[in-house]
Amino acid sequence: MVNKITVLLGDITTLDVDIIVNAANNSLLGGGGVDGAIHYMAGPELKEECRKLGGCKDGEAKITNAYNLKCKKIIHTVGPIYKDGKHDEEQVLRNCYINSMALAEQYRLENNLDEITIAFPCISTGAFRFPKARACKIAIDTVSNSSYDKINVIFVCYEELDYTIYREMLNINN
Ligand code: APR
Repeated sequence: MVNKITVLLGDITTLDVDIIVNAANNSLLGGGGVDGAIHYMAGPELKEECRKLGGCKDGEAKITNAYNLKCKKIIHTVGPIYKDGKHDEEQVLRNCYINSMALAEQYRLENNLDEITIAFPCISTGAFRFPKARACKIAIDTVSNSSYDKINVIFVCYEELDYTIYREMLNINN
C-alpha cells in the first residue's frame, strides 16, 4: 500500500517533488499537452537525453534528469491510444502506473531515500482519449495496490473535471 495519495488541481511542471511523470509518446521527443509543457519547462537538454533512450513502448517507462524543472527526475511513460476498449487499452494504462512506480522505487533505493513523492498526470485522457472516469479508477486502483509503502503519490489534474472525478473516486469531500 503506498504511503499517501493526494489530488491536486494544477500544472505538474511547477511541483517541487522527487519525480514527475510525463504522458509521452513512443518517440520520447516531446509533443503537446503535458509532454509539451514538461519539455518546454525542462529545456532542450531533456530532448537531448531522451534522444539517447531509443524511444519507449506503450505501457513502459523510462527515467531522465529534470534539468530546469524543480523536481529531481522525470519518468516518461507512454499510455494507450484509446480505440474501443477492446485493444488491451486498460492493461496498457495499468502498466504505465505499475512500471512508473517500479522505476520510482528503484530510484528511491538507489539514492537511499527514506521516502519520496511522485506526481502523475491523468495519463492518456487528453490526446489519447481514454475515458476519464475509467482512467482515474485504473490509476487509483493500480497505485493503491502497489506495495511501495515509502512512496507518496500525487495525482495532478489540469482540468476541473478530472479533479472532481479523482476527489469523488477517493471520497475526498473537504
Ligand atoms: N500539468 C498537468 N497535467 C497536464 C498539463 C500540465 N501542465 N498539461 C496537460 N495536462 C493534462 C491534460 O489535461 C490531460 O488530463 O494531462 C492529461 C493527459 O493529456 P495529454 O497531455 O494530451 O496526454 P495523453 O492523452 O497521454 O496523450 C499523449 O499527446 O502530447 C502528446 O506527445 C504526447 O503523443 C503524446 C500524447
